[in-house]
Amino acid sequence: MECFNINIITSKGMLPVRLGIKGGRMASFSTIGAADVKPSLALIPSVIDMHVHFRDFDQRNKETVASGSKAALAGGISAVCDMPNTIPPVADKKTYLRRQDLFSKDSVCDYLINFCVFDEYSMSQAASVDPFFIKVYLDETTGSYILDEALLEKVFMLQKPIALHADHSGMRKAIKFSKKYSTPLHICHVSTKDEVMLIGKHKDNNITCEVTPHHLFLSGIYDVKPALCTKNDRDALWAALGGVIDIVASDHAPHTSDEKEKGAYGVSGIEAMLPLMLTALNRGQISYETFYRCMHANQKRILHARGRDFGMDGGSRADFTIVDFGDSYTIDAKNFYSKAKHSPFDGMSVDAKVVETWVRGMPFFKDGEVVSGARGKEIGRK
Ligand code: DOR
Ligand code: ZN
Ligand code: ZN
Repeated sequence: MECFNINIITSKGMLPVRLGIKGGRMASFSTIGAADVKPSLALIPSVIDMHVHFRDFDQRNKETVASGSKAALAGGISAVCDMPNTIPPVADKKTYLRRQDLFSKDSVCDYLINFCVFDEYSMSQAASVDPFFIKVYLDETTGSYILDEALLEKVFMLQKPIALHADHSGMRKAIKFSKKYSTPLHICHVSTKDEVMLIGKHKDNNITCEVTPHHLFLSGIYDVKPALCTKNDRDALWAALGGVIDIVASDHAPHTSDEKEKGAYGVSGIEAMLPLMLTALNRGQISYETFYRCMHANQKRILHARGRDFGMDGGSRADFTIVDFGDSYTIDAKNFYSKAKHSPFDGMSVDAKVVETWVRGMPFFKDGEVVSGARGKEIGRK
């Protein structure tokens, strides 16, 4: 058994503990004195980024599964949930199996794979695959996989969990169908106060939602969908974090610098998310309770609701990230591991640096590099 002492981030604050890891799982856990841990280091249990676009297939110039998963580990993320608006889209069984195969060969972090339904054919194929989410685009985005709203009800009739990209009116319709068919609905990138109020009014156990760091931290002009909103909207997003808004997800949407200059939508965000949220925690902008919920506990709840093995307590997977609050730095996209080396967060100072990312009891990222032998796996059923 491998044992070490460290401060662990909990919903109530930092807790100095001695951890024991065996066979990729947490084997023992005991509290110790604060004098026995290095004060600046902290461990965050299992961070999964529930919304990334790793491109590949025909857009390897933007990002590959290899480069994106490496960027994930560098950002302290031990697993990702991959979006299907690739070229070709993950919208038929054959391409879904091809995506699984590609990830199993090239991903250095663990993963979940989504499936896109945007027409009658992809809908008919959805029954024969077992994705984490069926992604439905109702509103403008990258790629042209927008579902005709007349087909929306039919997708909910499949009763498979849906992740939704939509504006306010699309959200309203999806919420109605989620309730009618008891279909789990995850609403992506909530960006306005009105959306928070709409979701808050109708939320039930089947409805979850996420916010991105760029919608939390930024206003102004940057090419991204949905657009950045006002300070008033952002205040509502922060206030809803860990409550109406379940989780933070990056919506990492890499494009080449050339394409960005021409207005492509998306933020290269996977490496900035955790440092930014740790900074909000460190500066008292959010509580430990909120941080713990929106960066770990609610992701765990969503995965467990779908029968997936996740989380590191009580004999579960030893996935975690070690960060150093003694190592503040300025975000500079030139240093990203992602192929997309541009960021609206450039120049922002953050209070903590990712030191190590562990997956299933092994350090996969350490000393600024992916450890040899790091190999991602699909997060399976329990
Ligand atoms: O800005 C965005 N970029 N929003 C999306 O919904 C899609 C994403 C992409 O795939 O580029
Ligand atoms: Zn989207
Ligand atoms: Zn997206």
